[in-house]
Amino acid sequence: MNILVTGGLGFIGSHTVVELIESNHNVIIADNLSNSEIGVLDRIAQITNVKPKFYQINVTDKKAVEEIFKNNHIDGIIHFAGFKAVGESVENPLKYYHNNILSTIVLSELCLKYQVNKFVFSSSATVYGDQPSPLKEDMILLPTTNPYGETKAISERILKDISKANGNFSVCLLRYFNPVGAHKSSIIGENPKGIPNNLMPYITKVAKGDLPKLNIFGNDYDTSDGTGVRDFIHVVDLAKGHVKAIENMNSNVNIYNLGTGKGTSVLELVNAFIKCNNINIPYEIVERRPGDVAITFADASKAEKELGWKAELTIEDMVKNSWEYEKRLI
Ligand code: UFG
Repeated sequence: MNILVTGGLGFIGSHTVVELIESNHNVIIADNLSNSEIGVLDRIAQITNVKPKFYQINVTDKKAVEEIFKNNHIDGIIHFAGFKAVGESVENPLKYYHNNILSTIVLSELCLKYQVNKFVFSSSATVYGDQPSPLKEDMILLPTTNPYGETKAISERILKDISKANGNFSVCLLRYFNPVGAHKSSIIGENPKGIPNNLMPYITKVAKGDLPKLNIFGNDYDTSDGTGVRDFIHVVDLAKGHVKAIENMNSNVNIYNLGTGKGTSVLELVNAFIKCNNINIPYEIVERRPGDVAITFADASKAEKELGWKAELTIEDMVKNSWEYEKRLI
């Protein structure tokens, strides 16, 4: 297939592009480089020997996106492009509503106009709100604690409605849990701009000495060691989930959790990092972070049953690959 990947130079996008190419798909990337760098394009080529066609555009710019649809035959799109910093979305909600919702609308309008019938959307487990895990796809969606999460829930609703009204338009909503790790080549990985918000990139910066210590947000949750529990998933497994999703779109709306189905505590992840990489991570227990839930993990059985997809890589692979990649960054 010819697949348009928006945000294809970002963390999850770039790993997905590699897996798509390795499954013999032809990829076109649209990315405005707001949270990625152009060098990733060459790195994708280094891994796959294929340099995808690249458009540096903003996906909210309908005219610019339409040029891609006019000049390429597209069979399906995978829409990653979007802002994702939870804290920033609370401070600047309009930035998030404008960018994340408008991009979904623009892409859908063009899909209908150019008869592109497969739309895979990058959603998040955050749409479940604070419900008991394991989280299942048929649970009702609860309000999330921040505008970023709302943009995911609203985009899901928009895509479902469009699909209901347009028989041929198939939508796949992929709800990600906590992606970490990096490609085994260490050529691509996660490299957020500024001080990381998420746990794994924070740990790797501490390991490298760029940050003095890790703050662990609370050890008084009702969990085995008191720290938060998350479903960490290796980004390469997540990327493979997208390939399966776009290759198996057969009904109007498909929804899948992409997680491992297993919860790991913050402290367990930190200890696995220390043990596997033989490097110390100084940490301190601090106050809970507002908005955090105690436990989140997936019921990942639907994707296994319907897509034949299952996360294969372990916590050890995740901590090892994250550190190997970080070490190569200057
Ligand atoms: N944590 C720390 N210290 C840090 C960073 C995080 O202790 O410096 C803890 C958090 O309190 C939480 C866990 O590590 O218990 C994971 O936190 P992350 O910020 O890495 O991830 P979240 O689970 O908060 O959120 C992630 C994505 C969201 C997505 C959500 C879906 O960042 O975009 O998963 O569940 F919506």
